[in-house]
Amino acid sequence: MSAFETVARLLYLLAAVTFVLGLHMMRSPKTARNGNLLSAAGMAVAIVLTVVWVAVSDVWHVTTWGWVALFAGLVVGSLGGLWGAKGVQMTAMPQMVSLFNAVGGGAAAVVAVAEMLRVLDEAHAGADVTVFVGLDILIGAITFSGSLIAAGKLQGWVSGAPISFPGSRVLSALSALGGVAGVVWLVIEPGVWPLVLVTVGALVFGVLMTLPIGGADMPVVVSLLNAFTGLAVAMAGFVVNNEILIIAGALVGASGSILTKLMADAMNRSILAIMIGGFGTGDSAGPAVVGAAAEVRRADIDDVALQLAYASKVIIVPGYGLAAAQAQREAGELGKALAAQGIEVMYAIHPVAGRMPGHMNVLLAEADVPYDQLKEMEDVNPEFESADVALVVGANDVTNPAARRTGNPISGMPILDVDKARQIVVIKRSLGHGYAGLDNELYGNPKTGMLFADAKKGLAGLISALKEYAA
Ligand code: TAP
Repeated sequence: MSAFETVARLLYLLAAVTFVLGLHMMRSPKTARNGNLLSAAGMAVAIVLTVVWVAVSDVWHVTTWGWVALFAGLVVGSLGGLWGAKGVQMTAMPQMVSLFNAVGGGAAAVVAVAEMLRVLDEAHAGADVTVFVGLDILIGAITFSGSLIAAGKLQGWVSGAPISFPGSRVLSALSALGGVAGVVWLVIEPGVWPLVLVTVGALVFGVLMTLPIGGADMPVVVSLLNAFTGLAVAMAGFVVNNEILIIAGALVGASGSILTKLMADAMNRSILAIMIGGFGTGDSAGPAVVGAAAEVRRADIDDVALQLAYASKVIIVPGYGLAAAQAQREAGELGKALAAQGIEVMYAIHPVAGRMPGHMNVLLAEADVPYDQLKEMEDVNPEFESADVALVVGANDVTNPAARRTGNPISGMPILDVDKARQIVVIKRSLGHGYAGLDNELYGNPKTGMLFADAKKGLAGLISALKEYAA
């Protein structure tokens, strides 16, 4: 091994360590930003190193046009990523991640196709290469087309409702079978046609697998596709014999799988049930409400401001409606205004509040809410009993006591024990349903006052009313 190669391998190892440390730091909002920066710095080192390695190695023989393409890719990719990440709205983050998955999976598949064409050209396509090439293309192409459909559904370019057509399940099974048969064929008899079969089969399967899934289930599917991206990238690492790709891919694959499982568990649904689809479109199901929630007590801004002003402990419960209204700043300001009057304030964070993992943490961190006021579900649940007011802002399913009973879509889902607070206020626009399409029994609770308003306007109203009381 040359001196350069030794140093390069050590730097790769260092980059891999930054990925692991970065992931570890992302466990807490306090260290998450630095963790992200650390991993990004490690990735920058790995990219620069790879380019230098390609330049000095005598294996690659990159032509002038090859270099032009390589740098064009670097510039377009970096600027595109920067532009997308800077401009994206927090509520559009799932579709952004989905697009990143698409390019990750697509790139891994393209690497495998290029390597296969190269080894075919040089007539040494052994099973040690073709197995990884086949799997890489299979997983990468499924991720690419599936993630594009997922992003389209989340963005509203494709209908968020489950989409199927006569024969779609048969076609889906056939395309999956075609993809797998293509891999086997590629290993037995390497050539261009098996390459085409596995690519087309996987691309079609990715589309047909994602179309029948309801828009609101997409975050779980995006997380699953994220795990697929990791697997595809790890396979690409085996294909081109690059250990940093194997390590990074394995980390993404493992963390994506864990996240998918956590999300499915927190929603009390199996991953299989989500993949079969047909549940939830992500939209509020409209104002029609029957049963327990039909008898509700209305509250107005002044009533609620008075309740808050006389409280000594307030727990704010944010949900999807807060994100939809972009009301995070107002939620943070209200907390500050209450704390300034000596009231104990905390924010109750349910693991699947909103539409993506960590949705509420990210929004509230953006609004500079002190980290020690953000309480995870297990920590905050015992606090409700001693809270004077639980202020629910655009949250619905994660507060619904129906989850404690059997026989409904959220049965068994752990919830925030909002109903244990002395008084409850719910800010939302109507009695409309949440993601699970259920009436919320909390609204019919005699302790509950419904403040019908957009979250941003309702919170802004409360802040100014509180200021008037304080003056
Ligand atoms: P949801 O149960 O979805 O309820 C959100 C509520 O926000 C709706 O009832 C809606 O009522 C209200 N709303 C919408 N826009 C609003 C606005 N501008 N101002 C005020 N309120 C507004 O939300 P949740 O309690 O956060 O629960 C999340 C749900 O999503 C769970 O069922 C979870 O399983 C599911 N889910 C979560 C994830 C992740 S990872 N977070 C992924 C997939 C699915 P109105 O229309 O009456 O205003």
